[in-house]
Amino acid sequence: MKGVILAGGNATRLRPLTWVTNKHLLPIYNKPMIYYPLESMARAGIKEVLITTGPDHSGDFINLLRSGKDFGLKLSYEIQEDAGGLSQAVSLAGEFAGEEKILVILGDNIFKHNLAKAVADFEEQKEGAKVFGKRMATECRQYGVIEIKDGKVVSIEEKPENPKSDIAQTGIYMYDSQVFDFIKTLNPSARGELEITDLNNLYVKQGTMTCEIMEDWWVDAGTSFNELLRANMLVAEEVKKENGG
Ligand code: DAU
Repeated sequence: MKGVILAGGNATRLRPLTWVTNKHLLPIYNKPMIYYPLESMARAGIKEVLITTGPDHSGDFINLLRSGKDFGLKLSYEIQEDAGGLSQAVSLAGEFAGEEKILVILGDNIFKHNLAKAVADFEEQKEGAKVFGKRMATECRQYGVIEIKDGKVVSIEEKPENPKSDIAQTGIYMYDSQVFDFIKTLNPSARGELEITDLNNLYVKQGTMTCEIMEDWWVDAGTSFNELLRANMLVAEEVKKENGG
């Protein structure tokens, strides 16, 4: 299975920070944000990762990450000319993926969960997709929201007014090779983007979408300044624990 990290977009919610650089190069405690999804890929046993990013700061990613050797990964890069949405960014991975399944992680998602078992299981699976969910204690209106009935994903709604559950759709997805044909059938949403939720709902409709709920902490660090701060504090806490503090 190959990995894809989406690190494009305009990150308007984090301006003026993101006037300076790409969101995924901002610091989260002691490392640039992009390090965390890369380390999650490596921990999951993925060896080859494609990073998609916009044209403005693409050189900075290559200067920073180079071949990926320091992470034990082989890195490739694709430029997403315009921020046309998450599914459009995934479509850039078609040639890179070939017939292989892919693990997609949004570049601003930082989490503790180890994906290695899920990757191994998904590799054995014949077809379909998997989305990782997180039960939220508070509001989950700012995320995609996953509705599950009798253990089956029945709907995913993007940032709904009235969420049908407390399960947020995180930015971690697994897809079989049907994904690239599915993306070709998508139309832009009201905000002019090819949405990941519309893509995921095609698998829901096919009856091949499963959901794994993560117990450990998860942050979408790009959603607000508060979540960016929370990501810094959670990582700082982990580092302290690792150092026996
Ligand atoms: O983090 C989880 C959430 O991510 C999900 O709950 C939502 O269902 C999903 O739509 C997404 O929502 P966001 O509002 O957080 O998406 P955002 O525009 O912040 O983009 C997420 C990541 O994808 C971010 O790291 C930037 C990157 N991106 C975004 C766009 C629009 C791209 O690489 N290309 C793009 O065109």
